Amino acid sequence: ELSKQAKWKEIEGIPLAAATVDNWNQIQAFKAKPDDLLICTYPKSGTTWIQEIVDMIEQNGDVDKCQRDIIQHRHPFIEWARPPQPSGVDKANEMPSPRILKTHLSTQLLPPSFWTSNCKFLYVARNAKDCMVSYYHFYRMSQVLPDPGTWDEYFETFISGKVNWGSWFDHVRGWWEIRDRYQILFLFYEDMKRDPKREIRKVMQFMGKNLDEEVLDKIVQETSFERMKENPMTNRSTVPKSVLDQSISPFMRKGTVGDWKNHFTVAQNEKFDEIYRQKMKGTSINFCMEL
Ligand code: PPS
Repeated sequence: ELSKQAKWKEIEGIPLAAATVDNWNQIQAFKAKPDDLLICTYPKSGTTWIQEIVDMIEQNGDVDKCQRDIIQHRHPFIEWARPPQPSGVDKANEMPSPRILKTHLSTQLLPPSFWTSNCKFLYVARNAKDCMVSYYHFYRMSQVLPDPGTWDEYFETFISGKVNWGSWFDHVRGWWEIRDRYQILFLFYEDMKRDPKREIRKVMQFMGKNLDEEVLDKIVQETSFERMKENPMTNRSTVPKSVLDQSISPFMRKGTVGDWKNHFTVAQNEKFDEIYRQKMKGTSINFCMEL
């Protein structure tokens, strides 16, 4: 068993799993195809939620088909590597087209063939404060990520971008700025909470599907937080406790907007707002932070 720290390395200053870094050549050489759909997120932004929505649309609302496997196995995770198991790239290479793939990589680290393949990208962004809180609880429950320390310590780590997959600011900015240059559907977690049917319809249209209203209503119901929390194919309950200890914090934790208010001190909030202004200066992206 490697020590917790030894499992992490960096690429271009971005912390990643050591096995991912060791597999970096294979990842960078990955060949995307024009009919691929890549689900892209910063961690804890609603990845699992959008994956279930995309799969429900792909299966035309057939719940049984979406029960065929756990969500982590339905969409190959490009940078996943745990030798001797097949890597995310191996799994993607085996998958028949049209493929639906997942990544948390920032634009600067994405395998270059994605930019020339003319494939589709589905990006989900979540407001930085809630994302940070969700990631904190994930760090606590994860038995493989480094110890996040106290909330105050973790607060500084997150702001400095020294969390796995790097800085929230760089990630969201990077994807936002190229959204008109590629086929990118850019969604917000908060919009999905506010009006799930409208956002699910956008995804359906982006995927080139045409489903009846009743099917859309069913997808809204089946992908609700409450349903996905109970669903063993989405709630990570099959992941061993030695990897994710859900007695510390459940993977399907709260699924709400504004939980940051229960974590940030007034001083931290002021500091965060100032850093946010600096880091997001010049971008037109508009998150409603006072949620
Ligand atoms: S991961 O590990 O990066 O793939 O995590 P990710 O799936 O991106 O994010 C987990 C957070 O998303 C919440 N979640 C949902 N919210 C609303 N509706 C649905 N259906 C849903 N499914 C997952 C999950 O609860 C995590 O957020 P927090 O705030 O911690 O509850």
